[in-house]
Amino acid sequence: MDTATKNLENDHELILRLIEVIVKMTRADNFNIAHFEKAAYIIRNFADGFHHSKEENIFFPMLAKRGFPTRQGPVAVMIHEHTEGRDLVKKMSEAIDQFKEGDSSAKEVIFYNALEYCKLLGSHISKENNILFRMADNALSDSDQLQLLSDFGDIEKSKRNEDLKRECIASIGEFELVYE
Ligand SMILES: [Fe+2]
Ligand SMILES: [Fe+2]
Repeated sequence: MDTATKNLENDHELILRLIEVIVKMTRADNFNIAHFEKAAYIIRNFADGFHHSKEENIFFPMLAKRGFPTRQGPVAVMIHEHTEGRDLVKKMSEAIDQFKEGDSSAKEVIFYNALEYCKLLGSHISKENNILFRMADNALSDSDQLQLLSDFGDIEKSKRNEDLKRECIASIGEFELVYE
């Protein structure tokens, strides 16, 4: 059976590919500001705007209905980490703007915040995949999982989000060819 947790894990695979290639971007000989700009765009729009909003607006509320506390415990930690991630990508984007305005020292700030983001998201996804989603699979009924999948589908099938996902997959694939 397709499950909502599996659907979220599929998003994670793409986000893990992105963070792996961002780490390589920070180690590359050639610094390409446009690639960091695009990476920040994918984080803001796909990892956060698309994936984290599926978790925060659909998945976590269902967990709350099935007895998971939201002000403490694993769901609260996950929400807190989403906020930390938003803060890091905001700082990364601000540094990208500074670099483009001629401040070459902003490059180190871009690298620092990009790498902190990758570290945070790597551990966040591992906690979701290995702990929270397994707890969720035990707590959710088959009909809960189907309801969640249907609600995710409403978001995923919008033209804007279909185009966004296609764009992100294409860009990550291009990065992977450049940064081996
Ligand atoms: Fe999350
Ligand atoms: Fe997630």
